[in-house]
Amino acid sequence: MAQPPASKPKVVDVHTHMYPPEYIQILESRSTIPLVRSFPGATDPRLILLDAEVPALDAALSSGPDPPSVLPGRPLTRHFASVSQKLHFMDTHGIDISIVSLANPWLDFLPPATAGPVATSINTSFSTMCATHPGRLYFFAALPLTAPRETILAAIAHAAALPHCRGVILGTSGLGAGLDDPLLLPILASLAAASLPIFLHPHYGLPNAVFGPRAAGEYGHVLSLAIGFPVETTIAVARMYLAGVFDAVPALRMLLAHSGGCLPFLAGRIESCIIHDGHLAAQGKTASPPRRTVWEVLREQVYLDAVIYSEVGLKAAVQAAGEDGAGRVMFGTDHPFFPPVGGGEGKEDGVWESVGLNSLAVERAFGAGTSGAKGVMGGNAVEVFRLFGE
Ligand code: URA
Ligand code: ZN
Repeated sequence: MAQPPASKPKVVDVHTHMYPPEYIQILESRSTIPLVRSFPGATDPRLILLDAEVPALDAALSSGPDPPSVLPGRPLTRHFASVSQKLHFMDTHGIDISIVSLANPWLDFLPPATAGPVATSINTSFSTMCATHPGRLYFFAALPLTAPRETILAAIAHAAALPHCRGVILGTSGLGAGLDDPLLLPILASLAAASLPIFLHPHYGLPNAVFGPRAAGEYGHVLSLAIGFPVETTIAVARMYLAGVFDAVPALRMLLAHSGGCLPFLAGRIESCIIHDGHLAAQGKTASPPRRTVWEVLREQVYLDAVIYSEVGLKAAVQAAGEDGAGRVMFGTDHPFFPPVGGGEGKEDGVWESVGLNSLAVERAFGAGTSGAKGVMGGNAVEVFRLFGE
């Protein structure tokens, strides 16, 4: 009997962001970061998000009517808010499905009274956008973490009922005291009960002082994004592990941005530091079992994206994720961040090198067209996030 033709494997982007227009309006109305500002001589307004960008912002604001010598932040191009641009980017790079998330710093800076309504409005906008492009777009919802607990729980219930919602995006600050805060446990338990995985994403990085006085003027965004972000994620998850959060909420599932930061590389060292810690030993916290090791938690409750730009990093992520680690790692782009730099008008509408680096890493690590490559490029995300086309 003739076999039905094998369907083409899906390519899924699990790490791709947008700011809906209403979010950009909020940023335009602000005078402290995060904010959007226009400067003389710049084609696009500038999006200024990170603490590390404040020195350049201050310098630009004091440059008077002359164009600042260094523009702060990054250009706020149409890629950030336009769904047609997102679809164009997906088509250009052979991406079938995207799970879109609000970009950092999400709703973390909103006053408690407005965070709830803004979350409802933004998550509804994402939901409507996904429904308009069935089978192509899903989303991770944003949570109003500065609002009272009941408001956060209501936002989780709202998100869980939206048909294209596949989880929530969260930064590392939690309710203000980090992800090992006992007060956050009911929120995490509620997410787990609603089968909403957390996409954990960095924003706060490391204090500017760590990068030294030359960073702001000379090193661009490199230290913050390449090192501050991944270290932030690493510390946040290590704190959760040490606080027993994964045991307290065993149904919690997390997708870690940037292949888990440094976790694949440092898990062995974290594990060894636990075993050799006299303070923890005295509290009876080192024996395994009953303690699940860092490796076990990574293999049971954690997924990693493949936004690491090299075969070496990707292989580390896959190995850290376990025997079938390839099944826990998922392709992403980080669009609209990391566009092609320089060149003429319209270059951003073409192929992005940042995307190519990540797909090349998958090809080099697994071999083109292998089942491992197909899984990382999309098959894993289809299964884990139930992207079955509705
Ligand atoms: N820079 C950001 O601020 N966020 C990202 O997701 C990537 C780069
Ligand atoms: Zn990102």
